[in-house]
Amino acid sequence: MASTRTSERGRALDERAPLRVRLAPPLRVTSGLKARPGRDALRNLERRAQDTRPHRRQCGPNRFTTRRDQVVSGRLAGKVCVVTGAAGGIGAASASLFASEGARVVGVDLLEHSVGQLSLQADVANEQSVAGLYRRAREELGRVDVLFNNAGISPPEDASVLDTSLEAWERVQTVNLRSVFLCCKHGIPHLLDAGGGSVINTASFVALLGAATSQISYTASKGGVLALSRELGVEFARRGVRVNALCPGPVDTPLLRELFAQDPAQSARRLVHVPMGRFARAEEIAQAALFLASDDSSYVNATAFVVDGGITGAYTTP
Ligand SMILES: NC(=O)c1ccc[n+]([C@@H]2O[C@H](COP(=O)([O-])OP(=O)(O)OC[C@H]3O[C@@H](n4cnc5c(N)ncnc54)[C@H](O)[C@@H]3O)[C@@H](O)[C@H]2O)c1
Repeated sequence: MASTRTSERGRALDERAPLRVRLAPPLRVTSGLKARPGRDALRNLERRAQDTRPHRRQCGPNRFTTRRDQVVSGRLAGKVCVVTGAAGGIGAASASLFASEGARVVGVDLLEHSVGQLSLQADVANEQSVAGLYRRAREELGRVDVLFNNAGISPPEDASVLDTSLEAWERVQTVNLRSVFLCCKHGIPHLLDAGGGSVINTASFVALLGAATSQISYTASKGGVLALSRELGVEFARRGVRVNALCPGPVDTPLLRELFAQDPAQSARRLVHVPMGRFARAEEIAQAALFLASDDSSYVNATAFVVDGGITGAYTTP
């Protein structure tokens, strides 16, 4: 149930042992896991790769076709990508897509079974855990090229400034903003060692627009992610590290479903502002993350990369 998941996640955060690194053994996401969209996609891609491997032929740098004439582009071939929040939603969809584009993916989450060649269970708001997970990624896979700092929460206790407790404010700031600071602080040195790389920090369209259906700490945390990303993009530009903030509009993931399950009227109130008349799918945001992770975006830096179905461009909607 959606509300149970919120409270479970809350307990997990509140009761975690301080400064404890919880690193799961390497996990290949091939079998024995519950059916979930991201994992199924990865499994299908792995099967497809096995089916077609003997028949593929090169047709340009990092490109090949299969006997079934499916084009697989390998846009992340040779890269090691660390994706946080990879057990669900945007993170899992991105980890699957990155793997299908040739990356070796380290999936990180508070929960078990992140999508990735290496699946690590860690709290990204904990400094020791964060430093440890990049060390482990480097030890196991040799390098780190892409950081997708995507884990985040949006609990219902975070609402109007008049109703939000200091505790709720701080919990959201800790998970959404401190974690991005820590992942950049401990991840970027590995990118510099590799000669450069790409950092994608998940912000949100609410970093750019005010909402009367307020989640004051969430909005402030995403504004912080946006400003932090811009500054890092400028600081590291001449050392080969690009940093961008990804700003999705509302996406149909457990995070949003949890929030709207409490109040369907709130869901309807938001949907009316989306020109396309629907929320995004996690896979659509993953495509944007792929672009920012790959060398296709080699001159995209320090931006607010908005993928919102036109929300920020709209005055009235159809
Ligand atoms: N869903 C939306 O509408 C939407 C819109 C804009 C931005 N975002 C942002 O996108 C990102 C991903 O959101 P989603 O919609 O996929 O949510 P989700 O709840 O489906 O996934 C978030 C993942 O982060 C993990 N996580 C939470 N706290 C963690 C911690 N301390 N350490 C490690 N992992 C942790 C969760 O376990 C979960 O698997 C978030 O930063 C969110 O704020 C979401």
